[in-house]
Amino acid sequence: MRYVPLDTPKPNSKIGLGTWQFGSREWGYGPDYEQRAAQIVRRALELGVTLFDTAEIYGFGRSERILGAALGDDRAKVVVASKIFPVLPLAPVVQQRAVASAARLGVAGIDLYQVHQPNPVVADTTTMRGMRTLQDVGLVGEVGVSNYGLRRWRFAEAALGRRVLSNQVRYSMVDRGPEKDLIPYAEQAGRIVIAYSPLGQGFLSGRYDARNPPAGAVRRANPYFLPENLERGTELIATLREVADAHDATPSQIALAYLLRHPNVVAIPGASAVEQVERNAAAAEIDLADDEYAALVTAAHAFRPVTGLAAVPKLIRARTRK
Ligand SMILES: NC(=O)c1ccc[n+]([C@@H]2O[C@H](COP(=O)([O-])OP(=O)(O)OC[C@H]3O[C@@H](n4cnc5c(N)ncnc54)[C@H](OP(=O)(O)O)[C@@H]3O)[C@@H](O)[C@H]2O)c1
Repeated sequence: MRYVPLDTPKPNSKIGLGTWQFGSREWGYGPDYEQRAAQIVRRALELGVTLFDTAEIYGFGRSERILGAALGDDRAKVVVASKIFPVLPLAPVVQQRAVASAARLGVAGIDLYQVHQPNPVVADTTTMRGMRTLQDVGLVGEVGVSNYGLRRWRFAEAALGRRVLSNQVRYSMVDRGPEKDLIPYAEQAGRIVIAYSPLGQGFLSGRYDARNPPAGAVRRANPYFLPENLERGTELIATLREVADAHDATPSQIALAYLLRHPNVVAIPGASAVEQVERNAAAAEIDLADDEYAALVTAAHAFRPVTGLAAVPKLIRARTRK
């Protein structure tokens, strides 16, 4: 495993574990998954993963419970990251919700407490007042945000009066927005960009095609899995396979290695099986050659999926055909 070269109380592994899948029916993993989830966490620990990401909204608290129980006494050794879903993130609400999350996780302190998304009405001055108090009493280690643009991330830092260590954003070969300004800022200021959906929710694994889309409500709502977009992704997957073959690796591992070239980026893929967490952890060791990286960049740029409003009627049609 490799770690982010930053001065943090505990090391942050370049590959973390995302746990939205835990206790969340919308991924469609069925009742057996809860036991597998615990095995996934234990295996991740063995492989040197030190960043475990959850949120109060995942499975309405079940993800936090499953993660905390699976970590057991190892909770103290790793970075346990959770998120407040900021419906009305006034300072007292932030404090009360952190206490509830810590109780579900079974921790005395949340190492990284993140604001799940920017609130359009409540300013960060209010939210960060709550966060500052939580840090002062030791219930929260580092503060993070999620789905923030650069301006608001920096504003949140000014409001907190301290570093907001990380910004968790969608970042993968098919969503490269953070390369514009968030990653350069993280590198210059000593912050971390946490890449969520780093495999495009499995799109980049090459496991799915137009005749074989994934099941589950989450991915039925994701335009990348429209038959048309799976078709359009064929070239990109072919390039991933080509690079993967040269490393005796899989397309998913190469898709992760692409992100990890940036020193201040960590990826938090979710996993449906223990073998996936093994492969994902191993991806941290892959060094892509410059020409391989260039080929991946070209292939990623050439991928033009149907997204946004244009995808909506197609998503509805795909759903009603089921
Ligand atoms: N802050 C936010 O707003 C936000 C939003 C979304 C996610 N997140 C966080 O980010 C985490 C990851 O994002 P995500 O779950 O949306 O997407 P992801 O990590 O890109 O995709 C996860 C899925 O990809 C497949 N997969 C994983 N490893 C694989 C491998 N080695 N080979 C082949 N397939 C593999 C699995 O599905 P199958 O095996 O079923 O194909 C798995 O459930 C979440 O768990 C959550 O913690 C945060």
